[in-house]
Amino acid sequence: MDNKAMAKSYKKLLSNNKKWVVKQLKANPDYFEELAKGQSPEYLWIGCSDSRVPANEITGTRPGEMFVHRNIANMVVHSDMNLLSVLSYGIEVLKVKHVIVCGHYGCGGVLAAMGNKQYGLIDNWLRDIKDVYRLHQEELDAIKDETQKGRRFVELNVMEQVFDLTKSSIIQNAWNKNQPLHVHGWVYDIHDGIIKDLDVTYTGTEDIHKIFQYTS
Ligand code: CO
Repeated sequence: MDNKAMAKSYKKLLSNNKKWVVKQLKANPDYFEELAKGQSPEYLWIGCSDSRVPANEITGTRPGEMFVHRNIANMVVHSDMNLLSVLSYGIEVLKVKHVIVCGHYGCGGVLAAMGNKQYGLIDNWLRDIKDVYRLHQEELDAIKDETQKGRRFVELNVMEQVFDLTKSSIIQNAWNKNQPLHVHGWVYDIHDGIIKDLDVTYTGTEDIHKIFQYTS
């Protein structure tokens, strides 16, 4: 790509933006004024950075409706200040009602963690996913078809991230204060656009193993 093509490629976004503003204002002249007043989203989305899984678009939500955190392979890592800050702000200040971990079939991060190839720095990020494999090795090893194994691994990874969320003091403190808060696990299928609810919803501390339960 030469410099001219490079400039065109990014300037396209800015001209798209102008068109989008015109369209929004046509539908509602006060649209931006209303949004500027503040946000009170009901949902916190923890998804993969993959460009094919745009949180708002696939859920039919509009600006202001969803607080979003995305990283490679939709991981909940307890030492990740970014995730913890989003979680804390989303729950304690915005008071979201639902936290949704949404993985996706064909996730490059999860599939990389299923193999033994080195990818560089990212291997450190993906290492927690290998722990998911170790925890569910019996089930995964029994699946001979590699595609099916990959799909199940994606699901199990989401379930473990949901579980990891419930272990956090941020979520448990909200439950202990009787704040309405449900934590869900979903998987998006990039082949047909359908989101599958894994039915691993947690609604309170009583749902989790005793050793992880904090007293308030
Ligand atoms: Co992914």
